[in-house]
Amino acid sequence: MKRKVIIDCDPGIDDFLALLLALNSDELEVLGITIVGGNVDLKTCGENALKALKFTNSLHIPVYLGSDAPLQKKLENAENVHGEDGLGNTNIPNVQDGILKNGVVDFIVDTLNKEKDVSIISLAPLTNIAKALMKDKKAFENLSEFVSMGGTFKECGNCTPTSEFNYYIDPHAANYVFNNLVNKVHMIGLDVTNKVVLTPNMIEFIKQIDGELSKTVVDITKFYGDFYWKADKVLGSVVNDPLAVAYFIDREICNGFECYTDIVTEGIAEGMCIVDKNNLWNKTHNSIILDEVDDKRFFRMFIKAILKDKALEVEKYIKLLEL
Ligand code: BDR
Ligand code: CA
Repeated sequence: MKRKVIIDCDPGIDDFLALLLALNSDELEVLGITIVGGNVDLKTCGENALKALKFTNSLHIPVYLGSDAPLQKKLENAENVHGEDGLGNTNIPNVQDGILKNGVVDFIVDTLNKEKDVSIISLAPLTNIAKALMKDKKAFENLSEFVSMGGTFKECGNCTPTSEFNYYIDPHAANYVFNNLVNKVHMIGLDVTNKVVLTPNMIEFIKQIDGELSKTVVDITKFYGDFYWKADKVLGSVVNDPLAVAYFIDREICNGFECYTDIVTEGIAEGMCIVDKNNLWNKTHNSIILDEVDDKRFFRMFIKAILKDKALEVEKYIKLLEL
């Protein structure tokens, strides 16, 4: 049985990779992709989602445009990380026959009201999710699971010293979701994503096996790799968002603990996660904080999904990557 998901995202190089993983996975049925302005502006993120659908022959899946700005702050994008087009300035042409629909909030709420066992994987600022939750809290009682790529527990932030991009961009939305969702938030933060580095070796493998998606993945990750080298002297790219999808599919990939978590909304630490690991506040647990990751297991899944059309070759040669 495939698991039904809505993917909320702001593609974005790593969102795009996450979409490729999800759309190529036999475990998931993607009911819709909802877009929020984040890494780049809303419309560009939407166009990029359509490109991922086209590359995976999935244009039947609807894409909805949602919020173009956070609940209370002005949008600060991440073009320095993802390029002006959100895909490393590769300027892949827009999908001519692709449709961008309006009405994210209604789509999320209606889907939760109509369908059973639907989960949400969020790869972006939580603005759309907070708005849907504000509109119909009851609908969210039907939500199966909620996974959010965002935040950080012990690692430094990647936007400010305390805060990760998705929660920093819209801290009010993150705070609202953590404090109002019935489900616990599975938080895939920088504690785990910083450890999944797509290395030049892996990129070379993807290039040499030469699947249908190889060229695109090699092209769009070049800019990302350059950013990580300049920013952190990392050789390769930290692929945050695909880890959230992979963890949703396979719980063995990350490990963590349950606790209450709150999100700072104002001031010097806006977007910071306060993780009450030792239960000092004695509050109802609202989160599962993932802080351990099996990066090899993740990359085995990721590379197999990207090179799905070359499964036999991948099986034969993946040992070269020592995964
Ligand atoms: C997150 O921020 C964005 O730039 C990425 O797409 C990812 O969702 C990582 O902090
Ligand atoms: Ca993202």
